[in-house]
Amino acid sequence: MSLKKKDLLGIKDMDAEEIGEILETAKSMKKLLLAGTKRTPHLQGKTVVTLFYENSTRTRLSFELASKYMGANAANITASGSSVAKGETLIDTGRTIDVMGTDVLVIRHPLSGAPHLLAQHVRASVVNAGDGMDEHPTQALLDLFTMREKKGRIEGLRVAIVGDVLHSRVARSNIWALQKLGASVCLAGPTTMMPREIERTGAAVFETAHEAVAGADVVMALRLQLERQKSGLFPSIREYSRFFGVDTGRLRLAKPDVLLMHPGPVNRGVELTSAVADADFSAIDEQVTNGVAVRMAILYLLARREN
Ligand code: CP
Repeated sequence: MSLKKKDLLGIKDMDAEEIGEILETAKSMKKLLLAGTKRTPHLQGKTVVTLFYENSTRTRLSFELASKYMGANAANITASGSSVAKGETLIDTGRTIDVMGTDVLVIRHPLSGAPHLLAQHVRASVVNAGDGMDEHPTQALLDLFTMREKKGRIEGLRVAIVGDVLHSRVARSNIWALQKLGASVCLAGPTTMMPREIERTGAAVFETAHEAVAGADVVMALRLQLERQKSGLFPSIREYSRFFGVDTGRLRLAKPDVLLMHPGPVNRGVELTSAVADADFSAIDEQVTNGVAVRMAILYLLARREN
């Protein structure tokens, strides 16, 4: 098993077979983690560098831990603590990291397409850890892994994605990934936060959260991305929460065995009430744990391809 391309830049360009390969490999990686075997030699001699131009807890740490668990040399660079702050360009920074013998370069950037540009200028495999409002492919893969683990399948699931779809790279990657694996996607959010022509992706769009959540197997709430909003797209956070926040009452409309998901970090009391975020049917903690296994799988498959 290996990946077809040098880089992992987005779900849109992947096929169901490749996604399936990553999920299967992640299953083995999770077994290693659960067995307490946090040392495998899969990436012995390899170097993984994370280059983050935006803040992160889950994605950055899980890539770092995944690299270390598999014996790789792991290093982190952030925009504020590096020569990026002195004005170095993305390509120059990428080349500098590349010529130090880096095998995999994991990048998060506020501009859509930045990882694609970088991938054309470096020898290392580039992994997109979130680019602007475009994609967050490794998040979608860990979301799929979690759904499959909890529901036993992806095909035929009805997945409601609720909230700030406009700014959400997580939503975009999940829309592509879920449909490639045979799930149906129902979206709901304020009309000012729903991208124009999003129906073209094949997802169904609803005006109310109630309609999207009705009969859902999985409800995924999105983080309200205040940092990406140039002007007020809704009257108040209270109003957003009232119409698009997920609480116990709203979840009663979903299937009785509904699975609740959120990519994190959660704005408690805005997208989710604490009562549902911390409930038994919430998969938020499992999503984080599975993020390590899925990122181990991605690094392993990219390194194998290189070998
Ligand atoms: N879900 C996610 O990308 O979280 P971080 O911003 O903490 O990495």
